[in-house]
Amino acid sequence: MTQPHDWWRQAVVYQVYPRSFADSGGDGIGDLPGITSRVPHLAALGVDAVWLSPFYPSALADGGYDVDDHRDVDPKIGTLEQFDEMVAALHAAGIKLVVDIVPNHSSNRHVWFQEALAAGPGSPERERYVFRHGRGADGELPPSDWTAMFGGSVWEPVGDGEWYLHLFAPEQPDWNWNHPDVREDHLRTLRFWADRGVDGFRIDVANSLAKDLSEPLPTQAELADLVDGAHRFFDRDEVHDVYVEWRKLFDEYDPPRTAVAEAWVPAHRRARYASPEGLGQAFNFDLLQSDFDATAFRTIVTENLAFAREAGSSSTWVLSNHDVVRHASRYALPAGADQNAWLLSAGKDPEPDTPGGLRRARAATTFILALPGSTYLYQGEELGLAEVADIPAADLQDPTWVRSGGEQKGRDGCRVPLPWTAAGPSYGFGPGGSHLPQPSWFADVAVDQQDGVEGSTLELYRQALAARRRLQGAEELEWLETPADVVAFTRPGGWTCLTNFGDEPVDVPAGRVVLASGELVDGRVPADTTVWVETRV
Ligand code: NOJ
Repeated sequence: MTQPHDWWRQAVVYQVYPRSFADSGGDGIGDLPGITSRVPHLAALGVDAVWLSPFYPSALADGGYDVDDHRDVDPKIGTLEQFDEMVAALHAAGIKLVVDIVPNHSSNRHVWFQEALAAGPGSPERERYVFRHGRGADGELPPSDWTAMFGGSVWEPVGDGEWYLHLFAPEQPDWNWNHPDVREDHLRTLRFWADRGVDGFRIDVANSLAKDLSEPLPTQAELADLVDGAHRFFDRDEVHDVYVEWRKLFDEYDPPRTAVAEAWVPAHRRARYASPEGLGQAFNFDLLQSDFDATAFRTIVTENLAFAREAGSSSTWVLSNHDVVRHASRYALPAGADQNAWLLSAGKDPEPDTPGGLRRARAATTFILALPGSTYLYQGEELGLAEVADIPAADLQDPTWVRSGGEQKGRDGCRVPLPWTAAGPSYGFGPGGSHLPQPSWFADVAVDQQDGVEGSTLELYRQALAARRRLQGAEELEWLETPADVVAFTRPGGWTCLTNFGDEPVDVPAGRVVLASGELVDGRVPADTTVWVETRV
């Protein structure tokens, strides 16, 4: 039996991207009272926890990941009191809350960054961020040729010969993690939310806090060769010192606060982020980056279960989040397709196999929900939502679009406000409009169109989460012998999961069918379908 302190080990965590979930105010931007009003949906779905993406004051230069004040709520989406009400409603429904912490950078509107700009070169205020003199006679050239994640230089000039570092958008200046104020302030932030009843934290770009900016700085081309702790700003070993300190704080609470690292690092480097002395868990994005393929899925699962065991953690499984093309659309494209090129073609080239993509998405989700470990779901995937690939350029918000000079379409297509009803303004998202345009096909997939409808994706998710809760046991699996394009395993207690990645139907394993991601054909499992079978008596 899972003890309260390790509730997270096999939890289903549902990601809410607050500005696109539910809007109570009618201004087209989702808000905290909107989330509170939809707690019954989350409870009926059967999730164990919500991970809430940033809800802090922000100019939204990067969808809220540009944080002005980490210990407040953006007035556009609520108040601290409404935050408390949301926590109370979630807790009353038995749902835990994990909030996003963004420690690599603040926003350029943060009071300390404004003070740093005003105080000028050489001032102690600038020490909290990463300022450098530019190259060239008057500092007119950036300190290095490094490119930012959203395109352009990582260095922004401030007009006095100095430049500041931003791994992401210019509105997101990087903190200097060697500075005691920065460390102290983050401890204060963690305590602030933990004291307010938050159960855990999702740590944004957890692998980027520690930086070695000693001269000479390598070139962008040279950075790529610096791996396994040698990179100048990604995945350096010293970053774990920060998390050891955080772990002490988390463990002061009862139950201890949890944390999950967002760290796009190779699987063998994930263990330290996930260790009990560190954050405790780390996202594994391997399946999210894989084609829908039996061998790839099986290999990834085997490797990650071993890594998690080695780390003393549980594995995590993710197919969609707010940063990637929704998996129903990824699986609608030919294997290896260039997703950005597809987005730039407004979702036309290549022509997606939409029904096939949904079928594979349902099969993949029911596959991961049967695995040992915890599953992270992204809002809207329970509706089988596809990516909105045809958002007009003028409506795009992701800084990637502008910063890449229109070469990267960005992540708005998975962030379109949810359809709750087929009718009404913004498909029930709120009483007004929607901050990103919603397509007309949202009417067909809205919550009210799927609620209670046998075979709908919403009902599949509900059934799967309920069955999982009943069947979940020890964090183990045993692979079953299968043909190459079929993957099957049993879990302790007599729970078998089989996924047919091939073209030909295969037999259902012996036992009682508990769940099928698609209709069985003549009592057999057709292509792109997962079944769960219960063998215990
Ligand atoms: C990762 C977040 O998931 C993403 O949305 C954000 O743009 C970057 N970190 C920068 O904070």
